[in-house]
Amino acid sequence: MTSAPFPLADPELADLLAGRLALVEERLRDAVAHTDLLADATSRHLVNAGGKRLRPMLALLAAQLGEGQRPEVVDAAVVVELTHLATLYHDDVMDSAPVRRGAPSAHSVWGNHVAILTGDLLFARASGIVAGLGPDAVRIQAATFERLCLGQLHETVGPAADADPVEHYLQVLSDKTGSLIATSARFGAMFAGCRPAVVATLAEYGERVGVAFQLADDVIDLTSDGAQTGKTPGTDLRERVPTMPALLLRAKAAGPDATQGDRELVALLDSDLTSDAALAQAVAGLRRHAVVAQTQELAVAWAHRAVSALDGLPDGPVKDALVAFTDALVDRAS
Ligand code: IPE
Ligand code: IPE
Ligand code: MG
Ligand code: MG
Repeated sequence: MTSAPFPLADPELADLLAGRLALVEERLRDAVAHTDLLADATSRHLVNAGGKRLRPMLALLAAQLGEGQRPEVVDAAVVVELTHLATLYHDDVMDSAPVRRGAPSAHSVWGNHVAILTGDLLFARASGIVAGLGPDAVRIQAATFERLCLGQLHETVGPAADADPVEHYLQVLSDKTGSLIATSARFGAMFAGCRPAVVATLAEYGERVGVAFQLADDVIDLTSDGAQTGKTPGTDLRERVPTMPALLLRAKAAGPDATQGDRELVALLDSDLTSDAALAQAVAGLRRHAVVAQTQELAVAWAHRAVSALDGLPDGPVKDALVAFTDALVDRAS
């Protein structure tokens, strides 16, 4: 049985969620099955490789604020994980990431075309399931996917000349990551029949916790090893994909407080990072710099903002679990 990816103080709630997650797991496997053998193998690849299942977990947890046993809640949890999976296939192509969930990324096994098409197949399957949840769900899913794509697009093209790179990046994080985590929490509450005010609260919480989560991801990429994360450390540095520590370093190096060390580290990040030795040196340099702790502080600040969005909810085990979920997201090693 899949256990919750964070500590739950209430054993009854923990059991209940573990049971619902096991159901989601079964449904996910059905949802990626194909009679076409290649499509079947490529679509199962990342589901089978593991993953934390945070988004379905959040949907199931949010649903406990209402009638969490409704079957639509499980459908919604499957939809958000399938959507997430689709974006991972595409993201690994864009980031040239060799490893995902501890397995070779799909594009490194089957090539870019197959990886992109597999992401599309998963999105098609998600769309089929969300259609059964009604037009509101379809509209929310469409808006979420649009924000996800725009987040990835804006990350790719970078800020306009007159824009603040850190502000631009925070918007990118909201769009590429906050959008789907917000929808996970929103769907959970919505399909459990919660009042609109509760649904809106959960959406706001999810948006903020999503930003916290992605900031923590930027730290983990530098401080955890690949065996823990199932990803290759420093992939974004090598591919020149901006991350918060790198942006904070560049801002410091360009400002009045810049040290020689800051400038040398920027030069190192801008040098050829093709070799593993050069990449390891850049990761180690950044890891030693104060910008990593600053990024972690930002993640914690966003986590606090997320928890404060929950103020209007009644106290109880579900609210406590949402707070524990938030803490686990920013204080994790994988
Ligand atoms: C990875 O998400 C992509 C980001 C938004 C950082 P997760 O860290 O939730 O990945 P899995 O699902 O556990 O593999
Ligand atoms: C993950 O983004 C993909 C989306 C959020 C759509 P990243 O590229 O930042 O995450 P990882 O580190 O590869 O999981
Ligand atoms: Mg990326
Ligand atoms: Mg990536």
